[in-house]
Formats: sequence, structure tokens, C-alpha cells
Amino acid sequence: MYILGIETSCDETAASVVKGNDKGSKVEVLSSIIASQIDIHKKYGGVIPEVAAREHVLQIIPVIDHALKEAKIKKSDLDFIAVTKGPGLITSLLSGNESARALAYAWDKEIMEVNHIEGHIYSAFINLNEPPSFPCLILTVSGGHSNLIIMQVDGKLDIIGETLDDAAGEAFDKGAKMMNLGYPGGPIISKYAQDLIEKSENIEEIDLPRPMLNSGNFYFSFSGLKTALLYKLKKDKDWQKRVNLYCYSYQEAIIEVLIKKTLKAAEKYGAKSIVLSGGVSANKRLREKMSENISKKINDVKFLLPDLKYTTDNAAMIAAAAYFKYKQGRKLQNYTEIKADPNWEL
Ligand code: KG4
Ligand code: ZN
Repeated sequence: MYILGIETSCDETAASVVKGNDKGSKVEVLSSIIASQIDIHKKYGGVIPEVAAREHVLQIIPVIDHALKEAKIKKSDLDFIAVTKGPGLITSLLSGNESARALAYAWDKEIMEVNHIEGHIYSAFINLNEPPSFPCLILTVSGGHSNLIIMQVDGKLDIIGETLDDAAGEAFDKGAKMMNLGYPGGPIISKYAQDLIEKSENIEEIDLPRPMLNSGNFYFSFSGLKTALLYKLKKDKDWQKRVNLYCYSYQEAIIEVLIKKTLKAAEKYGAKSIVLSGGVSANKRLREKMSENISKKINDVKFLLPDLKYTTDNAAMIAAAAYFKYKQGRKLQNYTEIKADPNWEL
């Protein structure tokens, strides 16, 4: 089975062709093309929706064309088209959805609507020889979302916790902005922190709060941490000299909350496997510390991480999610029924 995936929820125009095994549960990526707009939005310090929309319109058809060519398949080989319906920026989502509709009409194909978070979840299932054990606990952390989710064997998802304010990626982005480090903040803060980790043996952290660490539930809140960082910077005339230490301490605060809450949730829900996904899962320290903590503190739990190239937004994860959803019985739709929804909930 061949699926064309299209993703345009924010500032990446992406298309991918995946091959799903008709009998088993393996999905392989034949192509994954991403036209990133990071360089365009960098100078504004964040994504400007109108600029993103215009770029998507320019990029979408060449990107789809490229994905089909690289996969070396013809459009007649495609079983269906998968597209991100939401959540995301409506002006961005429209490019992907309208393109999917037009192609479905022209090529006589059906469409599956995929939730962007489903995409992040299934990014960790790409190329697996066998499905993970269930219940599976998923931590999805990106620029727009921080969710703890339980997935059952039939694919049913239960959100057991989410952020009450900023998402983890947003906390990274806003922290970097405060320190004038650039956009997107996650990879930059991570790099400054990593430089310090590699140079120093004992790092004396700047004291920052761990919001909602002991709240007794699985909700997150990162806006207080951001404010705490702002006050520390304001009080320290020489903070620029310690920017690596600020990045390190800020990253440790975010990571500690994410890891401890995930471990508590795994225990409470008897998780047999744990997935870490979303843009923030590209973070080296988080990947290492999560893996270390899971193997030290819980028995018999398999830890799944997406390949680095599938952590931030891409279309392979959308096509992969569509494959699993198809296997679970989600219906395909006619092009006339497709509509982007910027607030689409899981
Ligand atoms: O999943 P994604 O590409 O887009 C959304 O769905 O939001 O995630 C983007 C987010 C940004 O906030 C970015 O700063 C963060 O992921 N990110 C990272 C790293 N790489 C990307 N955060 C921490 N460490 C990283 N290495
Ligand atoms: Zn995303």
C-alpha cells in the first residue's frame, strides 16, 4: 500500500510517500521532502502566518512532485492521499488541504484526514518490525503541544495530561528570545547547554522552578518558568557571560518536569512501552536522560524514539499515521468532504 502524505500546518511545506505492509504493521518511508521556512521567519523571531501561507502556495506542488519522483512511484500506484487537517494555522493548513482535494479530484483518489498530533505519535512507529506493547504511553512535545497520552492496542487515544499554558517547545523558543539567541529556540538553547556539559564536570545550576512537578496530575505549565528566567536575567548584569549556564539550567528545568511526569504516568497506567515525540524530542539531553531514567527506574518497558529527521514537522509521520489509522478502520473520504480545522482535537 502506497500513501502520499501532505503536511502544511505551520511553517514546513512537506510531502512524503510511504509504503505500508498490507499484512503486517510495518511502514517504510520512500521519500520525505521538507521545504523549511525557518530562514524566512528567523528575522521576525517567529512564524508570521501570512508569510507562511504565501510560501506554502509557492512550495506545495514542487514539494509533492519531488516526493513522488524520489519515491519512484506513479500517481496511479497511490492507494490514497493523507493530509493534516489540523490543528495548526488555518492559512497554512488550507494550502495542504486544498492541494489534497485538487489532486484527489484530478487523480480519482480518496483522502484521509490526519491530526497533526497523531502524526507526531506515529513518527515513532516508522520502520518498526513489530508494533510496541500496549498500553503505550506517549509524551508529545512540540512548539504547539505538550501532551501525555495513553494509546491502547486498538489505537484508541486518551489524553491524560496537557499544558495549561505554554508548550515545552514554546518555552524553549521564548527563553531563547529573552536571551536574544534567535529562532527557533530549542536547538539553540540545546547547543549552548551542550557546550557547557561537554566542557564542565560539575555544573552549579542556576536555581529555577520545576512547575507543577508535584501537582499530583499529568498537567504541565511552563509560563512561570519563563517568568522566573526573565527575573534572573534582569537581576544579573553580567548574564551574557553566563549564557551557557542559563541555557543549561533552563533546559534542565524543562527536562526534569517532562521526565518525572512521564515516569509517574508510566507507573500509574502500567505502560508497557513509552514513546517520546514532537519537535522537542530532537533534544539530545532529553533523549539521553529519558532513556537513562526509563531503563534505571522501570522494568520491562520498551522506549521508542523517532529518528531525528522525523521529530520536527514532516509529512512521513502524517502518511505513517494514516497507514495505521487505515488498518484500525478509519474511513477514507471523498475530496468534497475535506476541510481544514485549525482547532481539531485528537
Ligand atoms: O513539532 P514541531 O516541528 O512543530 C510543532 O508542531 O510545533 O516542533 C517545533 C518545536 C519548536 O518550539 C522548537 O524550538 C522545538 O520544537 N525544538 C527543540 C529542539 N529542536 C526543535 N526543542 C528543544 N531542543 C531541540 N533540539
Ligand atoms: Zn508538529
